[in-house]
Amino acid sequence: MARRKIIAGNWKMNMTPSEAVELINTLKPLVENHEVDVVFCVPAIDIIPAVEAVKGTNIMIGAENMYYEEKGAFTGEISPAMLVDAGVKYVIIGHSERREYFAETNETVNKKVLKAFEHNITPIVCCGETLTQREQGVTIDFIRQQIKVAFLNVTAEQAKEAVIAYEPIWAIGTGKVATTEQAQEVCKAIRDCIGEIYDDATAAAIRIQYGGSVSASSAPELFAQADIDGGLVGGASLKADFGQIVNYNK
Ligand code: PGA
Repeated sequence: MARRKIIAGNWKMNMTPSEAVELINTLKPLVENHEVDVVFCVPAIDIIPAVEAVKGTNIMIGAENMYYEEKGAFTGEISPAMLVDAGVKYVIIGHSERREYFAETNETVNKKVLKAFEHNITPIVCCGETLTQREQGVTIDFIRQQIKVAFLNVTAEQAKEAVIAYEPIWAIGTGKVATTEQAQEVCKAIRDCIGEIYDDATAAAIRIQYGGSVSASSAPELFAQADIDGGLVGGASLKADFGQIVNYNK
């Protein structure tokens, strides 16, 4: 069975609630492609107006982060139940910026992934190497470790529903997109790793995105690769270009 492509925008820390509604209204007609899943991952405070603004469209709203506890004394955090109640379907977990600036580790990523599944939110689990790691030739080893820990105690049934985003850190926000061969090589290695942890059926079902300076011009070739099931798009998701990326196949 062919995997359905998933193209997600990662807005990062951009757009106030009113700007978010304005942007969604601009992008709405541009991102209509019912052959792919379209997700806008938006700042927490934008979620409620964004869910309202996408009603009646093919766009789903995702969060950029979530805490792994149910509730309680965790000032400033957002719980999975809050996201579900607000209408969120997806959550980005372990983005490299969260690992770098907010002390996320493979272990916290694993806790969040498990908690997201408990609440039927689909995690978009991020992984990716630094330029140094790539130059040292340890990219695949490093990514395999990130994936293995992120999926500890995750069942095969859950893993089949998960999304993994492979985002080489050196390609994020730099305009330096990985070559198609580099992106495909690592996405295939991730799928093989999932096959080792689970089985062939799980490896065949899980969706793996590429992220890192995806643009309207690079998307068609990237998304045509055997193991690349779409993209996680930062900068270009805030512009009309996102419409072209979503419609890469048209
Ligand atoms: P970028 O960001 O497309 O701006 O490189 C991707 C991401 O960080 O998800």
